[in-house]
Formats: sequence, C-alpha cells, structure tokens
Amino acid sequence: MWLNHLTLRNFRNYTDLEIYFPDAINLIVGNNAQGKTNLLEAIYFVSTAKSHRTHSNRELIHYDSDWFYLKAGIGALSANLSLEDKVQFPVANWQQQVVRECFPVGNELIIEASHEVEGQKQFRLNGDLLPKLSEWVGQFRVVLFSPESLILVKGAPGDRRRFLDQLICQINPLYLSQLQRYQSSLRQRNELLKQIRNHRQSVDLLEPWDELLVEDGILITKVRTQMLDLLHQSAKNHHAQLTQSTEVLNLRYCPSLQEVETTDNSEKEVAVNHFRQRLQKSRSTDLIYGNTSVGPHRDEFKLFIQEPDSNSIQREVKLYGSQGQQRTTSLALKLGEVELIHSQTGNVPVVLLDDVLSELDDIRSQLLFALFQDFGAQLFITATREEEWVAHLPTNFNQHYRLITIDNGQIVA
Ligand SMILES: Nc1ncnc2c1ncn2[C@@H]1O[C@H](COP(=O)(O)OP(=O)(O)OP(=O)(O)O)[C@@H](O)[C@H]1O
Ligand SMILES: [Mg+2]
Repeated sequence: MWLNHLTLRNFRNYTDLEIYFPDAINLIVGNNAQGKTNLLEAIYFVSTAKSHRTHSNRELIHYDSDWFYLKAGIGALSANLSLEDKVQFPVANWQQQVVRECFPVGNELIIEASHEVEGQKQFRLNGDLLPKLSEWVGQFRVVLFSPESLILVKGAPGDRRRFLDQLICQINPLYLSQLQRYQSSLRQRNELLKQIRNHRQSVDLLEPWDELLVEDGILITKVRTQMLDLLHQSAKNHHAQLTQSTEVLNLRYCPSLQEVETTDNSEKEVAVNHFRQRLQKSRSTDLIYGNTSVGPHRDEFKLFIQEPDSNSIQREVKLYGSQGQQRTTSLALKLGEVELIHSQTGNVPVVLLDDVLSELDDIRSQLLFALFQDFGAQLFITATREEEWVAHLPTNFNQHYRLITIDNGQIVA
C-alpha cells in the first residue's frame, strides 16, 4: 500500500496541511513537540479509525476548533512490484501533477475521516459515507512501531488480545463485525446477570444470550487460533534473524475455551458443547459478580524465549526478559504483523516508526533491511535530527530518503 497524499484540518496542532508522499522512505524531523507523532497519528487514524495513544477523539481536535477532518489518497501498489520500481518515483518534486502520473486518479482510493465534538466519527470511501466501521477498517493497512509497542510484551493480557484482534481485522474485516456482535452480547448478558442478582429478572432469560455468545465465541476462537499459529511462525523467524538464532521465541495461545482448529463439524460441535457447559458451570459465580467469566474476552497469548537447545526451559519474556529481549520480542511481533498482512492480503502495509531510532541501536540495521528488502514497505520514520538517522544507517544502505522538517504543525522544508 502506498500513502500518496494526506490532508489534515484541525487535527492536533495541524490547522491546514496538504502533503504528498511520492517517496518510499519519509524521514520526519523536528524538535520536540512540533507535530511529528501527530502526523503519524493521523495516518494511523485513517487506517484504524482510532488513535494509538488516546481513547478520546476530543483530544485529536485542535484546541481552537470543534471538528477535525482527514483525507488520504491511497495507491494499492502491487506487493510484487520490485523495490527498484518503487524508488524510481520522483523524489524532489512534490507537485500534485507528478503524483498523479505515478498514481492515476482512477486507481486511487480516497478515504476521509471527520469528527465533530458533539457528533459521531464519519468515514467516507471514494465519497460514499460508510455506516459501518467494519467497512472501513482493512481498506488501508498500516503497522505502527513505537516505544509503546513494548506493551505487547510487558502489558496486560488485554493489550495482546487487542493487538491480535487488530491484526485480524486488518486482514479480515468480517472479523470486526463478529467481534462487535460478541462484545454487544457480552455487555447485555452482564447487564442481565446484575438484574437477576437483584431479583429484577428471571434466570431463564440468560439462555438466548448464552447461545449468541457460543455462536460468535467459537468463531472468534477459531480465527484467533489460526492467526496466532501463523503469527507464531513468522515472529519466530524474525526473532531468529534479530538474535542471530541465539534464542528461540515461542508464542502460546491460552484461550479461555478450547482451541478450535478445523471447520470439521464434529469438532465444532464438541467446541460448542464445551462452551455451553462452561457457561452453565460458571453461572452461579457469574451471577455473584455480575460478570461473564468464560469466553474469548478472557483469552491471552504468552511469549516465551528459550535457548536453541529444544530441551532448555522456556521463560516468559514478560517476567524474565531483559529490556533488550523484550524490545526484540516486540519488534519480532511487529515484523510478523507486516509479513502476515502481506502474505494474507497481497498488500504490503505502510510502516510507521515513531521515535524508535534511539531505541534500536543494535538491531536497527536488521529492522530496516527487513522492512525494505523483504517487504519493500513505504516507511514513515520520526527523529529529532537527521543525523540521528544517518549516523546509524548500515554502511551498505544507500536508499534515497525524503526529509520532511516539521515546525509547530507546519512543513518548513
Ligand atoms: N488537540 C490539540 N490541539 C493543538 N495542539 C495540540 C493538540 N494535541 C497536542 N497538541 C500539541 O502537539 C504538540 C505535540 O506534538 P507531537 O506529540 O506530535 O510532538 P513530537 O514532534 O512528536 O515531539 P517529540 O519529539 O517530543 O515526540 C504539543 O505542542 C501539543 O501541545
Ligand atoms: Mg513524538
């Protein structure tokens, strides 16, 4: 995928900016608090309909405004296009005309997102208003790596679950509808549990909600089982490259229900019965707490590293890993995310690297080479100074990059 251009109006500290990105590598530099992360946040929002650093859309609106608007032009470059083809794009000229030559208007996907203080978020695809978020997510695929990505390793089970769900949504937009339906049934079941506890409803009313949870819960568990298997293979390979095979990374899915691996009907029936029984068994405790204690909303996946000797002990990275090991693990997961989106959709995602240059001294070259040579991704990288980037480039890395200098929400060079 290729982000051709982006317009930001009243988004964070950008009042009005329109910028074209004909280049593969975009190095965004500027002093602290000038708007580097804000620009990446806008790209991330266009892809995922949310910010990577706040749940409050209000914060995204410029202080002096009560709405924001974003517009992006996306070119679906074929993943098979060679890197040489990509870097031939004009480098110094940012004129609209030049971009149009590279990406004929008809081939461009225009996506727009807007939000008013009092209203809902609105999304348009090539001018058409999209009523459902699931129609939006997955159109423009982006992978973000920032210091906060460490939360994948150090954070709570919910953080890893969200990462996995978001990855699946980028690949399979239908999954988002399933997930939303499951979450809605879960909320309503929990509400009902509280009412039953307070003798305001009858316990029989739980049955239909249990059935809805079972139906979507089984599908969610199945998709997660399959995706985690693929992610495991990919992250494990990247981890081996990053550590020169001195360590082995393993991902272990710990589903609340039993894993569902095939579409085989008898296995599905076993899984359905298993979930039903678990819900039955936990009903009395659920009634006490007013909360559903089993189901995919309680899933987790754990990360382990061990020495290459297969008999050596596996240790959970969250508990025993050093800072460096935790960082390498989160990077391996992110590279796995890029690879999976590529292999499952045929599109290489746009990659955003926020503030990671200083963090990744020892493995930076592998990271850059992996992103370029293996995937040929369009990159957006932030740094406070250009030297920070140049000083640590691998010696044989001679790709052209475009420098974008930001000062107080404006592009100054
Ligand atoms: N809603 C908003 N309206 C206007 N300005 C905002 C808004 N939210 C944040 N800002 C401003 O944006 C700036 C921070 O931008 P950003 O996080 O992109 O900085 P940065 O260039 O990435 O800095 P650093 O190098 O420290 O990471 C701050 O000056 C902050 O006051
Ligand atoms: Mg920043």
